[in-house]
Amino acid sequence: MTISAIIGGQWGDEGKGKIVDLLSKDTKIVARYQGGANAGHTVYHGDLKVVLHQIPSGILRSGCHCILGNGMVVDPIGLIEEIEMVESHGFDTTGQIHVAMNAHIVTPVHKAVDVATEAANNNRIGTTGRGIGPTYVDKYDRVGIRGIDLLDANRLREKLAAKLESAIQSGHLPQDAKDQLKEQFKTFMDCATRVALLVSDTFALIHEFAERGENILIEGAQGTLLDVDHGTYPFVTSSSASSAGISTGLGLPTTKVEKIIGLLKAYTTRVGTGPFPTELFDDDGQKLRDLGQEYGATTGRPRRCGWFDGVAGLYSARVNGLTDVALTKLDILDHFEEINVCVAYKVDGKEIKNMSEVLHRLENVEPIYESQKGWMSTTTGIEKFEELPQAAQDYISYLEGLMRTRISIISTGPGRDEILLR
Ligand code: GDP
Ligand code: IMO
Ligand code: MG
Repeated sequence: MTISAIIGGQWGDEGKGKIVDLLSKDTKIVARYQGGANAGHTVYHGDLKVVLHQIPSGILRSGCHCILGNGMVVDPIGLIEEIEMVESHGFDTTGQIHVAMNAHIVTPVHKAVDVATEAANNNRIGTTGRGIGPTYVDKYDRVGIRGIDLLDANRLREKLAAKLESAIQSGHLPQDAKDQLKEQFKTFMDCATRVALLVSDTFALIHEFAERGENILIEGAQGTLLDVDHGTYPFVTSSSASSAGISTGLGLPTTKVEKIIGLLKAYTTRVGTGPFPTELFDDDGQKLRDLGQEYGATTGRPRRCGWFDGVAGLYSARVNGLTDVALTKLDILDHFEEINVCVAYKVDGKEIKNMSEVLHRLENVEPIYESQKGWMSTTTGIEKFEELPQAAQDYISYLEGLMRTRISIISTGPGRDEILLR
């Protein structure tokens, strides 16, 4: 039996969906422990591209239980749309999706508050507008609506009305929000009734499977640098995206997790605002964006692109206790004669290698690069490490040294088969 976790090691979109789908082959449960519909995880089934926002990426494997854990914020409207989308491709999800009784519920009010707050602050964080922050605010303010509340439609309607009233009273939403949200409220109540049927004791389910010795996969959303505690605060999401969130977000102690696999792209991307030391504004940045098709899976926004940041990589390995790294999108670097890697930051004339020292002033750091030789040949589909071009092998070993962690999975394309396991 193995319990393994897949964690975003950078600012999200590292390819978690692909790797979770791949590893879920022999797995009985895939469980998400945080975040909500702000995630956009891409999975390919042959030529079919499926983008998942809330359903764990094991859903395309029949018989694989997909848990939306208590640490998540679940949007019933989005979830029903997603189930319909998956089923429209011929997958039967019956009995496969389980929502924790104590997961928090995103309502149309939370989404409207998210959008209005961002607009009022001139798009300060660049959120996905999916109501994530406001729902976690309610959770910690102890006024949230939870999975279990979906089971009583009358009480739910009352709670929803009270939430709207309080958002108007506090000035978060305008007076006419009632009219604006009327239709969405109806859809919400319909979807809530359907999601109510999926609500169950996911804590017992996961522990029973663990005690039976079944393989379990834990799927992180976002990435370590978007973690509310350890990321580039305030330009973060509102949950614990790092491995630390697993224990609270599933009720599964991290002592039970044998493998913590950090997902990192062979370069770096970021969506939304906030500091990004290795960001490129030149032709190389555009080339990474074009070749990597770096456009948000959830919002379609162009992603900011830059070189691999080894300082952030080591920080991520430490925060998460990574046992392994899965390096994705190596193939995108096939087309660069020279590849830069950030090995330290320069700030106030000093060289810094500990990201924690400068997290609060990351916009002031200057990356110090070491240049690596490119390989200028295709790596897509190569299955053995020794068969990779020598310069690609050297690049991978070099990153391992910076992160002090073994890179045991290398992804060389979006498809299921474009993978190298060491
Ligand atoms: P996630 O949020 O971490 O699941 O990542 P996204 O799905 O948002 O973004 C990753 C994108 O890269 C998706 O379009 C994937 O299909 C694609 N992808 C994943 N791994 C690779 C890879 O090794 N090479 C290439 N070219 N694309 C990849
Ligand atoms: P996956 O799981 C990349 C970013 C948003 C914004 C910040 C806060 O696909 O890797 P939020 O809506 O969470 O309040 O936005 O976090 N963000 C992501 N960036 N990948 C994601 O998810 C993200 N989810 C949120 O762009 O900067
Ligand atoms: Mg994504």
